[in-house]
Amino acid sequence: MHAEKLQHEFEPKIVAFVCTWCTYAGADLAGTSRMQYPANVRVLKFPCTGRIDPVFILRAFQKGADGVLVSGCHPGDCHYMAGNFHARRRFAAFRALLGFVGVDLERLQFSWVSAAEGGKWVEVVTELTEKVRSMGPMKEFKALENEEQWSGALNTPELREAFESIT
Ligand code: FES
Repeated sequence: MHAEKLQHEFEPKIVAFVCTWCTYAGADLAGTSRMQYPANVRVLKFPCTGRIDPVFILRAFQKGADGVLVSGCHPGDCHYMAGNFHARRRFAAFRALLGFVGVDLERLQFSWVSAAEGGKWVEVVTELTEKVRSMGPMKEFKALENEEQWSGALNTPELREAFESIT
């Protein structure tokens, strides 16, 4: 089979960690407004992006995600004051670490999407899906499947169920 054909058949799994107040509501708006966007995205919502531990991102890659999006309220709009700034700083440091261990950073994206920005949600998700589709499957972290050494913080019923749904 041609490589071109294989590439075309590949449908990436994208995991989006979003804050419930802004981006989740924006994604919901896109849905209720019947905007079209790729069905590759599995949305996991959290009270605030400040609650999203970088280990969740590692876990998503380990469980089969080919791309990860972290998205929350715009600067100044976080319902917990500065949760999104903390998230952004943590994310920047973590991203550099992923780059250091050889992960293509194009697979990981951070964005701000408000509750009123259904259109922006569609743009962000479409762009990331297309980029990751052209990159092919993410294989690097699947080798960790047998090296389960995650903290107890990840072992909540909610996260177990969420991660099961992307495999
Ligand atoms: S409440 Fe949305 S990022 Fe903090």
